[in-house]
Amino acid sequence: MWRAKATSFFCFVVLFLPSEEKCTDDKVCVQMKTHGMLSADCYNKNIRNFPQCLRTDVEVIELSYNRIRKITKDEISRYKKLKMLYLADNLLTNLENSTFEDLTNLMSLDLSLNGISYLPPLVFHLPSLKRLYLSQNQNINIIEVVEETRPITSPLEAIDISFNELEVLPNFGILPNLWLYNISGNHLLSMRIRDIAGFCKLKKLDNTNFSAYFDNPCDCWNLQSWLEERNVNFTKIACDIKKEACTYTISDEDMSVYNACQQHIEEVSQKSSLVKIVCFNILLQTFLVCRALETEEKVDASGIIISITYFWILLVIVVPCVFVKNEFQTLMITLTEFAVKGGSCDKYDDHISNLILQVHHQTFEFSANGVLPLDGKLIYSILGAVITYLIILLQFNN
Ligand SMILES: *[C@@H]1O[C@H](CO)[C@@H](O)[C@H](O)[C@H]1NC(C)=O
Ligand SMILES: *[C@@H]1O[C@H](CO)[C@@H](O)[C@H](O)[C@H]1NC(C)=O
Ligand SMILES: *[C@@H]1O[C@H](CO)[C@@H](O)[C@H](O)[C@H]1NC(C)=O
Ligand SMILES: *[C@@H]1O[C@H](CO)[C@@H](O)[C@H](O)[C@H]1NC(C)=O
Repeated sequence: MWRAKATSFFCFVVLFLPSEEKCTDDKVCVQMKTHGMLSADCYNKNIRNFPQCLRTDVEVIELSYNRIRKITKDEISRYKKLKMLYLADNLLTNLENSTFEDLTNLMSLDLSLNGISYLPPLVFHLPSLKRLYLSQNQNINIIEVVEETRPITSPLEAIDISFNELEVLPNFGILPNLWLYNISGNHLLSMRIRDIAGFCKLKKLDNTNFSAYFDNPCDCWNLQSWLEERNVNFTKIACDIKKEACTYTISDEDMSVYNACQQHIEEVSQKSSLVKIVCFNILLQTFLVCRALETEEKVDASGIIISITYFWILLVIVVPCVFVKNEFQTLMITLTEFAVKGGSCDKYDDHISNLILQVHHQTFEFSANGVLPLDGKLIYSILGAVITYLIILLQFNN
């Protein structure tokens, strides 16, 4: 008895000691659940390798201001739920082609203040990536990698390539979701409208501490008029020529790139309305078959019209609720990111923290007077019920 206990204790120690020891270096990271997301705060901890012992379901990793030189796919792919990864101010130089391959949930990637000279093309095909910060990487291969990887499939909303000593801007092509483009601190030897024509949702072009040379001096005015026409917030650029000497002209090529971007947005909204119509038709058809079976007579026209109207109203109410709920989720994530990343700005920190706490504890749900939740599940359960009845009725018929 005594001996058995001692043996099992020994086994326990032998089995668990090595793995414990391997992970001691990662105890420096503070893991916590903040604002509903599991995050690991490893800011300024003199870390040299990507932490291997964090919880694998961690969603936010803050690794800014450390000494990491290299990240391999094996080190990072254990964190499959990762949504935000902050690696600013490290010693990264070359990233492997496959480094970020498995991070299909990654929404925000900060690689600012490194010495990256090889950014893997795969970054521009990450299916969830919305924000990409590449500021202050003086030798970055951004021009070549974008050229090689276009068309970009990531739903990028914000790109920061500030202070990268670029001479021309990368040709991103069409980015229909981009609203922030940060090119500040660059001094370009050439700039054209083409460089921004594919961003039809652009809201802010940060071009502070910036200068550019225009092959055609009138392009300086053309560019600014283009931005003003589209209500983009930017800093005025000093031109070499008087505005009166130029007439506002946009080349057909630039216009067609812009139109292609807009068309892309329209296609997306068409697709979502298509889903709506398909859903509606399935429901309606099932319902009509049910009715026909039930009555075994000809279904009267007024009944059909009433059912169509009811279903239509239901969908018109429910579908926007689902979209709004999804948008709310995105807002939560963005706010959380702001709180985690904008921590240096104490003035707003408290306010944002409070706001996040508030919205987080407020269950956000549309419902019919608290009885029925108005979401996709409602449609699903109605469909389920209809089909069940249909089967029962079919059996009765036999
Ligand atoms: C990455 O892949 C490209 C081809 O897609 C290849 O030319 C390049 O050598 C690879 N780079 C590394 C560091 O593996
Ligand atoms: C653009 O980048 C600069 C330098 O990195 C930064 O100071 C600025 O806040 C950025 N602008 C926006 C709108 O994020
Ligand atoms: C950017 O420009 C402002 C004034 O225009 C200047 O005060 C600031 O030092 C500049 N920043 C950099 C990093 O050059
Ligand atoms: C552009 O943005 C800056 C700060 O982000 C703001 O101060 C300024 O008023 C904006 N300009 C316009 C015309 O909206």
